[in-house]
Amino acid sequence: MCGIVGYAGSGPACGKPLDVCMQGLRRLEYRGYDSAGVALAAPGMDQIVVRKKAGRLANLEAEIAVHPLPDATVGIGHTRWATNGAPIDVNAHPHISEDGRIALIHNGIIENANSLKFDLQTEGYVFSSGTDTEVAAKLLGKIANEIIEELGHPDLFEALRRLARMLTGAFTILAEDVRQPDIVVGARHDSPLVVGLGDGENFLGSDVAAFVAYTKQALELGQDQAVCISGGSVVVTDFDGNVIDDGNRFTVDWDASAAEKGGWPSFMDKEIHEDPEAVANTLLGRFDAKGDIVLDEVRIEPEVLRSIDRIVVVACGTASYAGLVARYAIEHWVRIPVEVELAHEFRYRDPILTPRTLVVAISQSGETMDTLMAIRHAREQGSRVLAICNTQGASIPRESDAVLYTHAGPEIAVASTKAFVAQIVAAYLLGLYFAQIKGTMFRDEIHHIVQQLRSMPEKIQWVLDTQADTVNRTATHMVNARSFLFLGRHVGYPVALEGALKLKEIAYTFTEGFAAGELKHGPIALVDAGEPVVVIVPSSRGRSTLHNKVVSGIEEVKARGAYTIVVAEEGDPDAERYADAVFWRPVCSTLLSPLVDVVPLQLFAMDMAMLKGYDVDKPRNLAKSVTVE
Ligand code: F6R
Repeated sequence: MCGIVGYAGSGPACGKPLDVCMQGLRRLEYRGYDSAGVALAAPGMDQIVVRKKAGRLANLEAEIAVHPLPDATVGIGHTRWATNGAPIDVNAHPHISEDGRIALIHNGIIENANSLKFDLQTEGYVFSSGTDTEVAAKLLGKIANEIIEELGHPDLFEALRRLARMLTGAFTILAEDVRQPDIVVGARHDSPLVVGLGDGENFLGSDVAAFVAYTKQALELGQDQAVCISGGSVVVTDFDGNVIDDGNRFTVDWDASAAEKGGWPSFMDKEIHEDPEAVANTLLGRFDAKGDIVLDEVRIEPEVLRSIDRIVVVACGTASYAGLVARYAIEHWVRIPVEVELAHEFRYRDPILTPRTLVVAISQSGETMDTLMAIRHAREQGSRVLAICNTQGASIPRESDAVLYTHAGPEIAVASTKAFVAQIVAAYLLGLYFAQIKGTMFRDEIHHIVQQLRSMPEKIQWVLDTQADTVNRTATHMVNARSFLFLGRHVGYPVALEGALKLKEIAYTFTEGFAAGELKHGPIALVDAGEPVVVIVPSSRGRSTLHNKVVSGIEEVKARGAYTIVVAEEGDPDAERYADAVFWRPVCSTLLSPLVDVVPLQLFAMDMAMLKGYDVDKPRNLAKSVTVE
């Protein structure tokens, strides 16, 4: 789970390769931030020049300031999230070959690294790091030298393909060689790699954020493909060297500025304030002039969709909670069973899947390995897979039968916020689309819900504008609390789970989310004087039974001395009666209420983390996308 960037220019050696690498690493730092490094090559160099440092990118910048780098023609850069070897200088990438002529960076895990290392050690190779990447670098150096002997000239592209054929596991690898200082080569297996197509220069990146400041034209590399970029050419082949001409080209639809803080104190703050826009953009272009839902991207024939009799959502973490929200809505609207399964549990329990099961994979990054493996399993069993994803060209949408993109824009903060609300909206759209083609609802009913959906950005904005102060005051009051319970019922239950997860991951506070009805079956034993309990209260309109039961839950915990923080509909007197603090939601339909209810909880987690002095964008031990199982 690392960030990778590569650059090849066509002019004489200059500072651009370093600039591109550092700028790319800055944008990719969210993928991993425990060490970073760059390697440059230029004609006339005998050895690759490398600078690398454990810690944040700032440490690498300081290192380069002290030991400046020369002008170059090509460069590669890496930001690391350690999976193999501790986050220390020597384990940082790039790693170099035995003769120092080749530099290599890697994202993923090489499963057969130990046996390859053993073979190299038997031949006398010495290793200085504890990483699988150094094994790949040394082996690539050996293969490259064998090729020179065989062909009489260097061929790094062929050397990389031979290396790729020898590796098992998941990897994206980039490499450069001082003997061919006009090219950067890359290969991928179960890990992403995108090519940026420039004018007289080309780029490589783990995702488009690496190079979007320079070009919006991109080419997505398929599974088991290798690429060689120079300033003037891009050649893609399979691992056997067969040229591939029909790669998937696309234009990045967001601007580099979307990946910058724009004056906000943190990306998380900025992204929470983009919740309304994420919802509005995800709705954009999904309706025809008559107001019917048109999902052109879902290229599964309507007859096949009509035959679907069960939906299984696979996802992890926050994305799985979006799936839980979707279950309430889709089952209600479409009357087919919806199951939500954590992707890492799914494949191993031998799930029952048929061609009439639609597996819906929800993933912001589109690279979560657990979810990727789950959809591969589903497709092997003959089910169709539809991805709800925020990242164009990522592995999960590419390997799915259909995609519904959320248009939340790049999400940089590790804790997911705007992507969550966009995922919920995409799932609602899918549910309503099913209802439309299966005829389980009247057209007017669907149009009415769509109208309500369209009003949600405004309601979310209302929460941001009017509730932030109360949220901040409550966070200030609770900053020393050691644990929190979150309770919700019906669609409030996944919101409680999400609120608990946010606080856990960025404020490092022990939290637990429960279905409110479960309280009396055990968790109430945890409630003691002063214990903070956050409760999501459903509207009293139309669902008074549910509302009353949740309110009586608040009453019970309050009677045991709990400090109650309540998310409730504007003016709900019952909720207010037992609440120490209230975060109000504007009136909206119950099924759509998670879109507003989660917002104060996102703000609350952020405020708590900031008050404790933590880096809200880069919580400890976490990275933005989990590309290992
Ligand atoms: C929590 C969070 C994670 C992700 C999960 C899945 O804030 O971001 O729980 O939701 O790792 O990631 P994606 O959606 O990229 O598959």
